[in-house]
This record gives sequence, C-alpha cells and structure tokens, in this order.
Amino acid sequence: MIKRIFDWLIQPLGLIAVGIGFLAVFSLAAYGINSTQLAPTQPIEFPHDKHVNASIQCLYCHPGAAKGPAAGIPAQSKCWGCHQQMEITETSELLAPLKEAVESNTPIKWVPVVMVPDFVQFNHRAHVAGGQNCENCHGDMTKVTVAENPQVFNMGFCLNCHIKSAGDDHEKLVKLTDCGTCHY
Ligand code: HEC
Ligand code: HEC
Ligand code: HEC
Ligand code: HEC
Ligand code: HEC
Repeated sequence: MIKRIFDWLIQPLGLIAVGIGFLAVFSLAAYGINSTQLAPTQPIEFPHDKHVNASIQCLYCHPGAAKGPAAGIPAQSKCWGCHQQMEITETSELLAPLKEAVESNTPIKWVPVVMVPDFVQFNHRAHVAGGQNCENCHGDMTKVTVAENPQVFNMGFCLNCHIKSAGDDHEKLVKLTDCGTCHY
C-alpha cells in the first residue's frame, strides 16, 4: 500500500511540493514517535556500555558498516571467542543464554531496533568512508545498556545532515537532496 502510494508520488509532477509537504509533517511527527520509542526485549541483555568501555571497536563486531549497506550483528561464535575464556561467563546470569545458545548450536534471535523502511536506500559504507562517526547517527553507545534508537530515522534527520554536509557545494547539495538518491 505505502509502496504504491510512493510509486505514484515519485513521478516528477508535484514531486517537490509533495516533498516539502512531507518534511513539514515529518518534523512534527518525529517528536511524537521519538517519545514512544522503547527498547525491545532481547534474548540476551547485551550491554553495549561494558563492551565499548572495554575498548572493543564498533567495527570489530559490526564490520559490515565499512563494507556495504548493513552493519550486521555478530554471530555467537564471535561472542564465544572472548567469553569462553572469561570467568564471568561461568557466573553471570546475563551470560547463561549465550552459553546455552553455543552448547545447543542455536542462533540467537536478536530483535532489530534500528531500521528504515524498505523504500529507503541506506548504505553504511558511503557514510563511514565519508568520515561519519557511528555516534553521529546512533548516539553515545558508551552509555547504552540495551540498544535503543536514539533518533527515529525520518526523512528530516537524513536531509538535515545532507544539507549541512553539502555546504556551499551546489552540485553535492543537488545530489544529496535528490529524491532518487534515497528512493529508487
Ligand atoms: C562485542 C560486540 C559489540 C560491540 C563492540 C558493539 N556492538 Fe553494537 N551490537 C552488538 C549486538 C550483539 C547487538 C544486538 C543486540 C542489541 O540490539 O542490543 C548490537 C546492536 C547494535 C545496534 C542496534 C542494531 C539493531 O537494530 O538491532 C546499533 C545501532 C549498534 N549495535 C551500534 C554499535 C556501535 C556504534 C558500536 C561502537 C560504539 C557498537 N555497536 C559496538 C554487538 C556489539
Ligand atoms: C572482544 C571480547 C568480547 C566479545 C567479542 C564479546 N564480549 Fe561480552 N564482555 C566482554 C567484556 C570485557 C565484558 C565485561 C566483563 C566485566 O564486566 O567483568 C563483557 C561482558 C558481557 C556481558 C555482561 C555480563 C555481566 O554479568 O555483567 C554480557 C551479557 C556479554 N558480555 C555478552 C556478550 C555477547 C552476547 C557477545 C556477542 C554478541 C559478546 N559479549 C562479545 C568481552 C567481550
Ligand atoms: C549516517 C548515519 C549512520 C552512520 C554514520 C552509521 N549508521 Fe548504523 N544505521 C543507520 C541507519 C539509517 C540504519 C538502519 C538501516 C536500515 O534499516 O537499512 C542503521 C543500522 C545499523 C545497525 C543495525 C542493522 C544493520 O545490520 O545494519 C547496526 C548494527 C549499525 N547501524 C551499526 C553502525 C556502526 C557500528 C556504525 C559506525 C561504524 C554506524 N552504524 C554508522 C545510520 C547510520
Ligand atoms: C550525520 C550526517 C548524515 C546523516 C544523518 C545521513 N547522511 Fe547520508 N550522507 C552523508 C554524507 C556526508 C554523504 C556524502 C558522502 C560522500 O562524500 O560521498 C552521504 C551520502 C548518502 C548517500 C549517497 C551514497 C553514495 O553512494 O554516494 C545516500 C543514498 C545517503 N547518504 C542516504 C542517507 C539516508 C537514507 C539517511 C537517513 C536514514 C542518511 N543518508 C543520513 C551524511 C549523512
Ligand atoms: C537523504 C535521504 C532522503 C531523500 C533525499 C529523500 N527522502 Fe523521502 N524518505 C527518507 C526516509 C529515511 C524516509 C522514511 C521515513 C520514516 O520512516 O518515517 C522517507 C520517506 C518518504 C516517503 C514516505 C512517507 C511515509 O509516510 O512513510 C515519501 C512519500 C518520501 N520519502 C518522498 C520523498 C520525496 C518526494 C523526496 C524528494 C523531494 C524525498 N523523499 C527525498 C529519506 C529521504
């Protein structure tokens, strides 16, 4: 349904007017959505803060962010590489589900938190290669226990940064605000 409306809207006629209209609605809606975002229940209460504060790099666990569209979530074998050798794994209740998943060879079913709809093209690689830090979009993970979405990735959030990044470069501004850059 949304896809069909969207296909209709993406036709050249009235595109810009529609875009501006949506932006206005979006910036209003963002407040409402933002205040209702809650972290889902995860199979393991994975604490980002402890890992990031132990100086483990984001890209060690999410290497896809430097290579392509999706950052990826680490497989349990990567967790086990460290936790197998750690004393805390024997005693921590939080780690019992990890031990169980490894012993029974059942993949952990993480619940996705951060996403954009299918009709939006997002690619981590372009942003990471362009020097954008993870924090710019995902917030300060040294304070996050279970991941939640600090911003709703609405169109205004993307466009604000694109407009700011383009600065006086007119060609870049046109490219980064073109509907076809994010929707195709
Ligand atoms: C030790 C591995 C590890 C490290 C280091 C790590 N993460 Fe994660 N990350 C995970 C796991 C596991 C999940 C899935 C559980 C969750 O959503 O909390 C996740 C989830 C996320 C999510 C939410 C994805 C989703 O939609 O489910 C974001 C965003 C994220 N990480 C960003 C970061 C950033 C930014 C850093 C560095 C500051 C980082 N992570 C460091 C393992 C890690
Ligand atoms: C590079 C090493 C490393 C990797 C990989 C790693 N961890 Fe950890 N993990 C740590 C360290 C260090 C701590 C903090 C231990 C402490 O506080 O004494 C920790 C703590 C934890 C805790 C908190 C335990 C508690 O009782 O406070 C959980 C849960 C956890 N890790 C789950 C995971 C999961 C799930 C993965 C895979 C997605 C993972 N870890 C990958 C090093 C790692
Ligand atoms: C320019 C903003 C931006 C930057 C910079 C950014 N992300 Fe993301 N991230 C997003 C958006 C938007 C999504 C949702 C993508 C989707 O639904 O396809 C996302 C999704 C994720 C996810 C969950 C889904 C997945 O596998 O992609 C993880 C994990 C993640 N990001 C980690 C990172 C890490 C680690 C970095 C830094 C190396 C980073 N991100 C940099 C915007 C960003
Ligand atoms: C914090 C700033 C920032 C945010 C937020 C941001 N972007 Fe970007 N984005 C950039 C910059 C800078 C570039 C240009 C990178 C370069 O130099 O090529 C870019 C480039 C792109 C490109 C072009 C990639 C290519 O292959 O040339 C797409 C598509 C894109 N962004 C989509 C999005 C979407 C969708 C969102 C929101 C979910 C978003 N961006 C949010 C900064 C941002
Ligand atoms: C920088 C990336 C970017 C550009 C450029 C962009 N959009 Fe979007 N657009 C998004 C994102 C992200 C969403 C998803 C918002 C959400 O999930 O609430 C979206 C959603 C939409 C939607 C669906 C609204 C809904 O109800 O979900 C329409 C229609 C749309 N955009 C039209 C346009 C038009 C027309 C243009 C050109 C004037 C445009 N977009 C340019 C990122 C972009």
